[in-house]
Amino acid sequence: MTDTPDDLDIHDPAFASDPYQAYERLRQECPVARGEQHGGYWLLTRYADVREAARDWRTYTSSVPGVTSIPMAARRTEPQLPLEVDPPLHSRYRALVNPVFAPARIEQLRPRVEALAAALVDALLDRTQRGETVDLVADYAEPLSLGTLAEFTSLPHQDGPLWLGWQRRMFDVRHPQDGARATQEMNAYIEALVAERRRAPRDDFISLLLDSEVDGHRLSDGEVRAFCQLQFGAGFETTADAMSVTLQYLATHPQTRDALTASPGLLTAAVEEFLRYATPIQIFGRNATRDLDLHGRQVKQGDVVALSYASANHDPAVFPDPDTCIVDRFAGPATASGRHLTFGAGVHLCLGAPVARLELSITLREFTTCVPPLRPTEEQPTWKARGDRRGLSRLLVQLDAGS
Ligand code: HEM
Repeated sequence: MTDTPDDLDIHDPAFASDPYQAYERLRQECPVARGEQHGGYWLLTRYADVREAARDWRTYTSSVPGVTSIPMAARRTEPQLPLEVDPPLHSRYRALVNPVFAPARIEQLRPRVEALAAALVDALLDRTQRGETVDLVADYAEPLSLGTLAEFTSLPHQDGPLWLGWQRRMFDVRHPQDGARATQEMNAYIEALVAERRRAPRDDFISLLLDSEVDGHRLSDGEVRAFCQLQFGAGFETTADAMSVTLQYLATHPQTRDALTASPGLLTAAVEEFLRYATPIQIFGRNATRDLDLHGRQVKQGDVVALSYASANHDPAVFPDPDTCIVDRFAGPATASGRHLTFGAGVHLCLGAPVARLELSITLREFTTCVPPLRPTEEQPTWKARGDRRGLSRLLVQLDAGS
């Protein structure tokens, strides 16, 4: 960002690597900022405005394919489901997949995710004993996230890296043509999987969709594909990013790690605090359905409005000392205004939030009980170079065995 807030570019590497200082200034001086890049968009940064917009689907519609991403590297013509439709159709689509996210079904995952995390931690400890440096992104966060999603959605475990690659390429604003190729490859993969489930149904996500009806018709192949694109894509990078940011914080704030080791009862509250602090999906887009006057800015019908969940989650008006992880911040009764917006708000509130919470709580337990303190081996962490997501692409550490 330059001196004029209207020159804002969330994907500028300088902005993306350290967005919170810029957000602080925008919240104070220009709460509705304008960026002309990537097709042009307004950016809401204050908690109250972002939460209000996320909940008001009549004024801020999601019902435009691709509008939720700023920008989608490869422009989409089909909506992802149920993300890019509004009520009442949204409610009918969401009802179809609600059973997949039932708390009991997610709880069944726990022993398998615990076993996966323990095996990854054992491998880290083995390598540390040999004096090796480990990368907590490639050697822990990504495989845990991929393994959990493979379990949850009945995808073949060995295909996880394919999904991760497609997601990265689809959202890489620097290489839109490659993003389009990645979308085609992913769609071909999904179509093959759908055809296989048609031949031999299983007790899984795709078979459930193939057996479902909306408004009296069976879901088309296009609708099934649109559900799969989101279901398989939404949970890989996001949860890995949440874990990488959390582990980086623990590595650089040993007193926070010690506090959690001493008080394991705080883990549930700490999960919420790390989710707030990390905000892996920093921004989601909407379209204005009518002309609006927002803090004196004239937003026109059809304009893209980006909701910065990241800035909202770091708004000191709601979260005092927002750039510090206060592990008992969410220990008391949650008030409506004090909820973090990491999973959005309103009708599109993230369906996979319990899966993400499960992974993060298991990770926090492992890294505050079984794993010795972490010592980063690089002075500066390597952040991903995009402004709509936040996570580390590498976190090299040594484990201080013997402490
Ligand atoms: C830390 C990890 C995650 C974060 C930060 C995250 C964030 C979000 C956010 C912000 C939204 C709302 C989008 C909007 O406002 O338009 C959302 C929606 C959604 N998420 Fe997640 N998510 C995470 C993990 C997951 C996982 C693991 C899954 C699936 C297994 C998942 C599936 C979905 C789905 C299906 C929706 C669409 C809900 C709807 O439109 O009704 N997410 N997520």
